[in-house]
Amino acid sequence: MLGYATPAFDYITSRLFVAKIKENINDSYFDALQERDEKGKKFEDGMGGTSATQTKKQVALAMRNTRSKVETVGGNRNNRHAKIVVLRSRETETDNSIQNMLKNFGSRVDEPFIQFQDTPVFNIKDNGFVFDSDVNYHAGAYLGSWEDIFINPFDPKNKKTNGGRGMLTTFFLAYANTLRYLIHLTPYSMYDRIRTNAKYKYKRDTSVEKAKFIARNNLDLSSVLPAPVDEKTGHTIEEATKEAIEIANSRINDVQNALNSNKIHATFDSVAVGGSQAIYKFTLPRDPDLPNDWKDVQKKMAGFLKVAGEPIISSSAGMLTVSIANQRVGATEPINIPVDFAEMVKKRDKGMKTLISGIAGVDALGEVIYVELGDANPHMAIFGQSGSGKTVTIMNILFSMMNSVTPEDVKVLFADGKGNSFEFMRSDGDAEHPNPFVMAQPADGSEDIEYTRALVRYVEMLVRKRIALLKERKVSKLAEFNKKFPDEKMEEILFVFDEFSAVTDRDNELKGDDYTKYNVTDRIEYITKMARSTGVRLMLANQTARKEKLPGKIMANVTGRISLSVSERIEAEIALPDSNIPADLIAQPGEFYSIMHGVNNPEHGNSPFLTDDQMYDLNDALTKLFGVHKYVATREEIIAMAEEDINDIGVDSGTYESPTEEEMPASDISMDDLVALCRKYPEWAIENEENEKITGLDVFNKGVPAMTIKNKKIFKITLNSLKGKVAQDEEKQEAEASKKQRHSGNALSTVNGTDGDFATLPEEKVKEKMLV
Ligand SMILES: Nc1ncnc2c1ncn2[C@@H]1O[C@H](COP(=O)(O)OP(=O)(O)OP(=O)(O)O)[C@@H](O)[C@H]1O
Ligand SMILES: [Mg+2]
Repeated sequence: MLGYATPAFDYITSRLFVAKIKENINDSYFDALQERDEKGKKFEDGMGGTSATQTKKQVALAMRNTRSKVETVGGNRNNRHAKIVVLRSRETETDNSIQNMLKNFGSRVDEPFIQFQDTPVFNIKDNGFVFDSDVNYHAGAYLGSWEDIFINPFDPKNKKTNGGRGMLTTFFLAYANTLRYLIHLTPYSMYDRIRTNAKYKYKRDTSVEKAKFIARNNLDLSSVLPAPVDEKTGHTIEEATKEAIEIANSRINDVQNALNSNKIHATFDSVAVGGSQAIYKFTLPRDPDLPNDWKDVQKKMAGFLKVAGEPIISSSAGMLTVSIANQRVGATEPINIPVDFAEMVKKRDKGMKTLISGIAGVDALGEVIYVELGDANPHMAIFGQSGSGKTVTIMNILFSMMNSVTPEDVKVLFADGKGNSFEFMRSDGDAEHPNPFVMAQPADGSEDIEYTRALVRYVEMLVRKRIALLKERKVSKLAEFNKKFPDEKMEEILFVFDEFSAVTDRDNELKGDDYTKYNVTDRIEYITKMARSTGVRLMLANQTARKEKLPGKIMANVTGRISLSVSERIEAEIALPDSNIPADLIAQPGEFYSIMHGVNNPEHGNSPFLTDDQMYDLNDALTKLFGVHKYVATREEIIAMAEEDINDIGVDSGTYESPTEEEMPASDISMDDLVALCRKYPEWAIENEENEKITGLDVFNKGVPAMTIKNKKIFKITLNSLKGKVAQDEEKQEAEASKKQRHSGNALSTVNGTDGDFATLPEEKVKEKMLV
């Protein structure tokens, strides 16, 4: 079988390696093997040459016995293994010499899809020094395509004067591509190509079977929104994509050379384009000697490749990914493939994990990047400096969500700390383009701080009320409530808070009671901690991720993160913690990294650009479908509601168990019985510590003073230990609630029925203390 990476080809390659190894040693070794000394003279009888020539002889012998094997294996010939074993000798000196000779041999082997270590590894099993390599090789992907072969040399695009490559180059390319095609044309590659295509074309959407919710398709988006064209060039998506691929392919060698010049040796695997980026993937050798910090390499590569911004390099699972601005040599700017909002939303899976399920953008491979807020990931933050595309990204997430759910499922609240970015979402008065999902007037933190604070307080109250209601109905979370009480169905609420640190910064202007009631930091902290089960979710956005600006107690509970371009590395580190993603190197507005699916699954993409007019059109189309929806609460109502006393909500009262009528302590109850009763109903005891019913008992009032004083002491110790236990338990429940993300209901449902748990520990502790 002829063709690339076929058994015959692999056999020849393996023989070439053996020849190369032999080539590696100079003639004096073969002279030694022939029993000739340095001068080419035959050793004198019995002399056997010097010990140096003896060693050389041994080395040459070992080299002659080199074994080598190359094979392309795996169900669809997806892996290329290669191995060279140089046998060891019987003595150390010779072995050292062999090892010396083989130093750096690996990096001199220049064979596609084979990556040897620089220096061999000694392996006792193979009884020698081993180079081995195991590299991905997708036969089908390297087959090339007919379009590469049948290039029309007369196409005006190929005219040099049009910036094309010229007729001669085109002929040459067609010729070279034909050769490449033939070389790669093997049964495996054909099979692999067909299989991959089929997998791509006939991918079944299995999301519905597992899904909790089915995505609606509220709008015929393609008719609401025109297909986008690139603002600067007027390119359609197809035109831009075609050119982008061509540019990316033309730079494969440049990128490879740039890596090599930084002493990074990896084999090119594939390139993809999307947005303004070209993403090159390389296979790493077995023992890649990679820098700990890519900063330096990135800077050098930027200089080498002369591209806008610095490349972003990362490595995982044996692959090296280099993402660079996709631009021609000499061009000042990368090419941009516009992202089509309508196409992006159409690609969404039918099944949704959560109701608040939006799409922020698409990655370079065209896959959508989901932003889902639910029990697992209740809140998120979006970071990006001014002009990086925060507002646009937020609106992408919102509109893609609004296309899949109804206003009965989800409502949205808006606040902007620095201005009125969400003014256009207003739905009251003479608003021209009302949006049916908007729950209350958007708040403008710079102009109307009073309403902004009241709105935050309103959200907190809403969370508290919902918690109280869920508790009362003995359900653990909103979804369960809606299932059990369909007539009282409540929507999920998404609170979008842009530039929120501008509002928290002004908390210190508040004094006394007002501070307690309206300081936004504490409100937000409460919401991030407690709102999980109530279906109230936060989407925070901020220009800076700096710690001085973002209280840690808030950010610790905001697990979902997206970062657009930020100004400095330190900001990138805080925005996307533990991910090592240099978001400060992002060059384009709308380009972002998401760790919504964990730091181990970072996603990198571009969001579609939505103009104001397009967003008005989307609002109008949604209103046409759902009708005009009034605000759930007006500005005045929200300000009034914020004044309500939290304690009136009744979250904490009446929820603990109290002694029954008969169990209530009689005035002559013994101290032992009282302690037992307190332990049985700890919350009741704490609540009634100062109550006449307890302080008036005989044990504290009758008998010798020494006795009553001692009893008071015992009671105090008992209660203190109970308080500690109750507080501990609450903390534990809270911690568990945030740990057991999916079973968020537990924090509520375990409040009852814990009485037994209190019994043991305090008793021992109390006795211990009483002995003292
Ligand atoms: N996805 C995108 N594609 C192309 N251009 C974009 C994209 N997103 C944003 N832009 C450009 O960047 C500009 C600023 O975007 P946006 O208002 O969303 O930034 P921002 O981060 O919210 O800024 P600010 O902090 O000033 O509010 C837009 O007017 C647009 O020109
Ligand atoms: Mg903005």
